[in-house]
Amino acid sequence: MFTFFQYIKHVLIANYKGHNVHSPFVFNFINNILSNDGEFYCFEEIESIRKKLLNDNRIIEIKELGAGSKVYKTNKRVISKIAKTSVISEKEAKLLFKIANYFQPKNIIELGTSLGISTLYLANVNNTSQVYTVEGDKQIYNIANSYFNLLEQNNIISYNNNFDDKLPQILEKLETVDCVYFDGNHTKDATLRYFNMVLPKVNTKTVLIFDDIYWSKDMFSAWTEIKANNKVKITIDLFCMGIVLFRTEQLKEDFKLLVC
Ligand SMILES: C[S@@+](CC[C@H](N)C(=O)[O-])C[C@H]1O[C@@H](n2cnc3c(N)ncnc32)[C@H](O)[C@@H]1O
Repeated sequence: MFTFFQYIKHVLIANYKGHNVHSPFVFNFINNILSNDGEFYCFEEIESIRKKLLNDNRIIEIKELGAGSKVYKTNKRVISKIAKTSVISEKEAKLLFKIANYFQPKNIIELGTSLGISTLYLANVNNTSQVYTVEGDKQIYNIANSYFNLLEQNNIISYNNNFDDKLPQILEKLETVDCVYFDGNHTKDATLRYFNMVLPKVNTKTVLIFDDIYWSKDMFSAWTEIKANNKVKITIDLFCMGIVLFRTEQLKEDFKLLVC
């Protein structure tokens, strides 16, 4: 119910694809990313993996991590159902790809690999960039890795760990972080904890992407606190995800766009 009412509100107040946006940077961002319907060579291959997963009727027993599921009552999962309910949609995945493609990050951290669909989109932005992805469930991690190997996607380093243990270790190795996609453990405390871990490593070109910012009141509250952080300059609320930028040359400003 919360998500539904927030969506109605978003539709009423959001800027339709950025009309009347005065910031040249955000205007350019919209034209290059959000209004770009172009298809990229890798999309078809990744979507063929999604089709395989959607037809995979094997049952696995998973270890529930994070905020838990709104859909499942037990720990038994059919892989096809995970692919249908927990994985980024094709439309949002293409949007995620275009956002990352615009910023051309040298390194990308993903919290929440799941079956690896979003990871493959991120890794295909640039084969010379390095993607670090973390998944806590062993079986899901193994399935994702089987597809990374099948596609010989060599710029992905994947970890089977809890975010709380692995994120600080990844960050320690990096001088600065260019892009982080937060897509797991959708609680306020955890989201803010990971945001605060990443914060000392951001640079003026870093882009942080938070998925499911309207998933619950708790997530929306985390998004509100993130927007208010002094270091944060531009925030772009696409409803399905929230984008955070640290451009020091820009005054603090929040945009709401109707895209997803
Ligand atoms: C929404 S899914 C990720 C979907 C994926 N990014 C995609 O779009 O294809 C979230 C994943 O995060 C994992 N997860 C949740 N909390 C975690 C935690 N604290 N540590 C490690 N993994 C976690 C879950 O097991 C789940 O597979």
